[in-house]
Amino acid sequence: MLILGIESSCDDTSIALIDASARGFKILAEKTASQIEVHKKYGGVVPEIAGRCHAEQILPLIEKVMKPFDSAQGKPDIIAVTSGPGLITGLMVGVEAAKTLSYLWNIPVVAVNHIDGHIHSVEIQNSKKQKTNNIKYPCLAGRQAISNIQYPALALIASGGHTELIYIKKENHYKKIGTTLDDAAGECFDKVAKLLGFDYPGGPKISKFAETGNPQAIKFPRPMLDKNNFDFSFAGLKTSALYWLSDNSPKTYHLKPKTLTDFCASFEQAIIDVLVGKTLKAAGKYQPKTIIMGGGVAANKKLRETLKEQTNTLIPNSLFLIPQFAYAMDNAAMIAVAGYYHAIKKDFTPWQKLKADPEWEITR
Ligand code: KG4
Ligand code: ZN
Repeated sequence: MLILGIESSCDDTSIALIDASARGFKILAEKTASQIEVHKKYGGVVPEIAGRCHAEQILPLIEKVMKPFDSAQGKPDIIAVTSGPGLITGLMVGVEAAKTLSYLWNIPVVAVNHIDGHIHSVEIQNSKKQKTNNIKYPCLAGRQAISNIQYPALALIASGGHTELIYIKKENHYKKIGTTLDDAAGECFDKVAKLLGFDYPGGPKISKFAETGNPQAIKFPRPMLDKNNFDFSFAGLKTSALYWLSDNSPKTYHLKPKTLTDFCASFEQAIIDVLVGKTLKAAGKYQPKTIIMGGGVAANKKLRETLKEQTNTLIPNSLFLIPQFAYAMDNAAMIAVAGYYHAIKKDFTPWQKLKADPEWEITR
């Protein structure tokens, strides 16, 4: 089954073509246009500008991804498009493109929840280029992906827009058991990075400086960690970082190199302790066979190592799955993979009814 994935919920326009079957997935082609350079000067994503950039990028990217198919007069079997949650300005562009192509090619559409995509990003594991055995398009090489989530599963999705714990009893049955009450983990990284004068998105820069710092140097709070639920809150941590900077480097927030690395390491450690602590607490209650971590913050090296180590120690029989670095960030391949599981159940949305839903909750 050839699936064209479309993702435009935030600041990446991404298109991917995958070949999906019960044996696994092959990414045949993928193109992503990042808007980071455009939003950098505003210190965050500006929705109106994001919408315009998606509108400019989406058709050229689809054309590039589909190019090798022109001669074969080919078309995908299915379109999988992120329909929510996310920025309405971006979602609408992807959804309108999906509707148009569905009408034009007369093929069905799967509306994919963005969080569903991040969950399935962990199934794109082996990035080695492999020869395809696609009968229709034998010329194409693909990247192999394997399906290996065992249910029940527990997923921590942490990104710039989301921090959620999701219990997945079986495929496509999601229950949100925890969420952030204010800022998302990536948003907290980005806002504190902005105070330090780093460009958007600042999460990767903080984690780079953190590598050589002392994570015990500054005692930042671990919000909600001792609460008897699976919710998060990062606004207080952001405020304590601000107060610490105001006390220690008034006006400029300019830190000496050693203090900067210690600040970054201590701040990063506070976020990691909360994310890992809450995930393990949820795992204790729900006893999942697989623990999944996805979303942009899942690209954080120390977070990956810590959660892996602690899962292996405390819940040794469970499978721990994280995406490859490239697939932790928003991408269309994960949307196509998530779309596959709906397509095999014929869970399609007629193009006339397809709508962007910025508040779409994954729980059903
Ligand atoms: O999933 P994603 O690409 O977009 C959203 O759906 O938000 O995630 C982007 C977020 C940004 O907040 C970025 O700062 C954060 O992921 N991020 C990181 C790291 N790499 C990306 N945060 C901490 N450490 C990193 N290494
Ligand atoms: Zn995302």
